[in-house]
Amino acid sequence: MRTETRGKTITVKDIRDRKGGEPLVCLTAYSTPVARALDPHCDLLLVGDSVGMVVYGMDTTIGVSLETMIAHGQAVRRGAGQACVIVDLPFGSYQESPEQAFRNAARVLAETGCAGVKLEGGGAMAETVAFLSARGVPVLGHVGLLPQSFHALGGFRTQGREERSAVELHHDARAIAEAGAFAIVIEATMEAVARDITAEVPVPTIGIGASPACDGQILVTEDILGLSGERVPKFVKPYADLKSGLDEAVAAYAEEVRARRFPGPEHCFGAKPTSRAAGSGKADGSGEGPLRRVTIKAG
Ligand code: KIV
Repeated sequence: MRTETRGKTITVKDIRDRKGGEPLVCLTAYSTPVARALDPHCDLLLVGDSVGMVVYGMDTTIGVSLETMIAHGQAVRRGAGQACVIVDLPFGSYQESPEQAFRNAARVLAETGCAGVKLEGGGAMAETVAFLSARGVPVLGHVGLLPQSFHALGGFRTQGREERSAVELHHDARAIAEAGAFAIVIEATMEAVARDITAEVPVPTIGIGASPACDGQILVTEDILGLSGERVPKFVKPYADLKSGLDEAVAAYAEEVRARRFPGPEHCFGAKPTSRAAGSGKADGSGEGPLRRVTIKAG
C-alpha cells in the first residue's frame, strides 16, 4: 500500500503524526535480506528482542544481550531504505535507572543508525521514557503483555481481563504517552481495553493481539510466514507456509547431492556440458541453472 510518505525515510515524527490516520504497517526483522524484502511494504521495522526466541531458540527474551540487539540492528539498517527502524532495549539494559537506559540507548542509536528504541513497561518506566525523550532518544513504549516480565507474570498471559488490570493498563499507557513516547505497542490485551486506550492516548497505538481499532499492527515476521514451528499465539494469522517450501527445496537438494545430479557442469568452473545437462544451463556458469520451483502455499 502506498502512502504519501513512501519513497522517503519514514521518521518517528511521521509515525507519531499517523495517529487516527492510515493504519501503520509494522513487522519484526532481524536480518538484512528480510529487512530488504519487508521495507517496501512497511512503515516501521522492529528489531525485536524476540530475536532470542525466533533466531536463537531461547525459551524467553530474558537472555538477549545488548550486543545481540546491536548486531541485528545494524543488519536490519543495512537492508532498510524507507521504513523507520526501531531496536528493542533488552532485559537488564534499562530497568536499573534512567541513566543506565540513556547510556545503552545512546549506544544502540550510535552503533546501529536506527531511529529509536523500544522498552517495555508502563508507569514504572515513565521517568525513564521522559529522561530519554528529553535527551533526543525517541522511545516506542510497550504495555500489556510484557515478555521480559515472563517470570513476574507467571507466563505469557492475556492482559486486561479483570477490571483492576484494565484500569492499570490505561494508567500505564497514559503515563508512557505523557512521558513522551512517540507510539505505544499494546500486546496480548483484551480487545475492548486496547480499543479504549487507543481512543484515550494522543499517540499511535500499535497492536499485537490487541484490537483492529489500534493505529497500527505488528506481528513477528516468522510467525506470519509459517517459520516459527507449531506453536504460534492465537493472534497470529499465517500469510504463507514457507516451512513447506523450505522442506521441499532442501529435500530436493539432498536428493540431488546423494544422486550426484548436483552440482551440474553449469555450476562448475571449466567443466564440459554432458548430454544430461545440455540445455539446462551454460557450462561457463553464465546461464541460469535448472531451478526447481518450490510451492509456497498462501495462508
Ligand atoms: O520483541 C518483539 O518482537 C516485540 C514485538 C512482538 C512487539 O516486542
